[in-house]
Amino acid sequence: MLETVFAASILLLVLWAGCFVEVVRKVGKQLSPLRALYSSFRARCPYTAETLERFVEIWDMFMHCSDASLGFEDRFAIFCDQLGDFLEGLVQRAVDVLELFFQLDVADQQAALCRIPRRRLSSAEAAEGAGPLRMTACAICLCEWTKGDDVRELKSLLSQPAGTAITALALALLALSLLRFVAGVLGFIYAYFLRPGRNLKSYGAWAVVTGATDGIGKAYCVELAKKGLNIVLISRTQSKLEAVAAELEGAYGVQTQVVAADLSKAGPEMFTKIGAALEGLEVGLLVNNAGLSYDHPEYLDQVSEQDVYDVVAVNALVPTMLARMVLGGMRERGRGAIVNIGSGAATVIPSSPLLAVYAGTKAYVDCLSRSLDGEYAPLGVRVQNQAPMFVATKMSKIRRPRLDAPGPDTWAAAAVRQIGRETSLTPYWFHGLQHVMVRSAPVWLINRQVMGIHQGLRARYYSKLARTAAAAVNASGAAGEGDEAPATDSKRELRRRK
Ligand SMILES: NC(=O)c1ccc[n+]([C@@H]2O[C@H](COP(=O)([O-])OP(=O)(O)OC[C@H]3O[C@@H](n4cnc5c(N)ncnc54)[C@H](OP(=O)(O)O)[C@@H]3O)[C@@H](O)[C@H]2O)c1
Repeated sequence: MLETVFAASILLLVLWAGCFVEVVRKVGKQLSPLRALYSSFRARCPYTAETLERFVEIWDMFMHCSDASLGFEDRFAIFCDQLGDFLEGLVQRAVDVLELFFQLDVADQQAALCRIPRRRLSSAEAAEGAGPLRMTACAICLCEWTKGDDVRELKSLLSQPAGTAITALALALLALSLLRFVAGVLGFIYAYFLRPGRNLKSYGAWAVVTGATDGIGKAYCVELAKKGLNIVLISRTQSKLEAVAAELEGAYGVQTQVVAADLSKAGPEMFTKIGAALEGLEVGLLVNNAGLSYDHPEYLDQVSEQDVYDVVAVNALVPTMLARMVLGGMRERGRGAIVNIGSGAATVIPSSPLLAVYAGTKAYVDCLSRSLDGEYAPLGVRVQNQAPMFVATKMSKIRRPRLDAPGPDTWAAAAVRQIGRETSLTPYWFHGLQHVMVRSAPVWLINRQVMGIHQGLRARYYSKLARTAAAAVNASGAAGEGDEAPATDSKRELRRRK
C-alpha cells in the first residue's frame, strides 16, 4: 500500500511539473509579440516632416547653391555650421519630446509610442538624395535616444504595462489550466463512479462472449447474466464451457449456449460453425474478449512463427470477423453494441517493447473499434474498445488482486457499466488514473520504464528456465537414463533463445 501511495505521489509530482512547464512555455510564447512591439518602437525615431525638410534644405544649399560668389569651402563651412545647429536642435528636440513624454501617464505614453510618425520619402526626395540624409538623421536620433538614462527609464516604463499584461496572461492561463483540471477531475468522478450503466437488454436478448470460461471473460458473463442477458459462450474447452454455462443458468436463470472453438485456428470452417450457433438469435451485444499474448516478453526474432500467427489470429482477425458476423443483424434492428477488449499496452502506454505483436494487435483493435463506431453509431450500433491495464488473471500471472491489478470480477463490473459510452476507454478507475498520469509524463521516460520491466520479466523467465533445466538434470541423475528428455528440451530452449 505504502509503495502504491509513494508511486502515485511521484507520478502526481511529474504531472504537476508537466503543468508548470506548460504554463511557462505558454507565457514565453505570449512574450514574443511584445518583444516585436518593442523593437518596432526602437526602429522609429522622433523626427517630423519639418525636420526632414530642414535637412533637405541644408543639403540642397550645400549641393546646389545658387549664390555664385560662394566657393566650395564657404559652402562647406556654412553646411557644417547649419548641420551643427540642426543636430543640436534635433537633440534638444528629442530631449523636449522625452520630457513631454514622461509627463504623460502610462496609458498615454503607450498610445504616443504607437503614433510616432514614420514618414515615407517621396520619390522626388529620394531622387534629391534625401534618403542618406534621412538615414543619418535617424541614426543620430536613435543614438541620442538609446544613450540617455531617460531611455532606460522609458524602457522600464514600457515594461510596466507589458509586465502587467504578461502577469495577467499568465494568471489567465493558470486559471484556465486550473479550470480544465477541475473539470477533468469532476468528469473523471462522474464517469467512473456516478454515471449509471445503460440498459443492456435494450440492445437485444442475447450476448456473445469469447474467452468466456476464465478471467475477464467469465466475469463479464456473470455481470451480463446479472442484467438478465442470455449468453453464447465461446472458448476452447467444452467441459469448462458447460460448467460456466450451468453456473450462469443456475444462479441467474438466463439461457446459455456454448460453442467450443479454438480461435487461433480461425478460418472459414470455424466461422461457419460459430455463425450456425448464432443463427436465429437476437444478438444485441458481442464481447470480443479472448486474447493471446506470448509466454513472456521477447524480441520478435525469438518469438516462434506459430505464436505470431496465433496472436494475430485471436487478437485481430477473430474480433473483426465476429463483428462482421453480427453487425448485419444489429444494423437491421438499429441497435446493438460491440465491445472489444483491448489493452493498456497499446492505448495507455506509448509503446510495448518485447510485446510488440501483442500491443500491435491491440492497437489494431482500438483503431478498428473507433472506425467502426464512426461507421455504425449513426445506425444505432456502438462499437467500443475497453482497455485494461493489469487484471489479476491467468494471462497476467498476477494471483492476488491489488489496487492496480483488480480481480476480473471488479474489472468486469466497472467495464459493463461503461458499455455504450466513450469509444475507447480504460473502464476501471485506477487504470483511468494511470492513464492520466502516463499521458502527463515524458514518452521517453515511460518507454524506458516499460522496457526495463519487460527485460526484467524476460530475465526472470530465463532464470526460471535454467533452474528447471538444472532440477531436471539432477532428477535425471537420480532416476537414471529414462528421465533425460525434459532436461534436454529445457536446455535446448535456453540455448535457442539466449
Ligand atoms: N489480464 C490482464 O492483465 C490483461 C491486461 C490487458 C488486456 N487483457 C486482455 O483481456 C482479455 C482477457 O484476458 P484474461 O486475462 O481474462 O485471459 P485469461 O484469464 O487467460 O482467459 C482467457 C480466456 O480465453 C480463452 N481462450 C484462450 N485461448 C483461446 C483460444 N485459442 N480460443 C478460444 N478461447 C481461448 C480461455 O479459455 P480456454 O482455455 O478454455 O480456451 C479463457 O476463457 C484478453 O483479450 C487480454 O488481451 C488482459
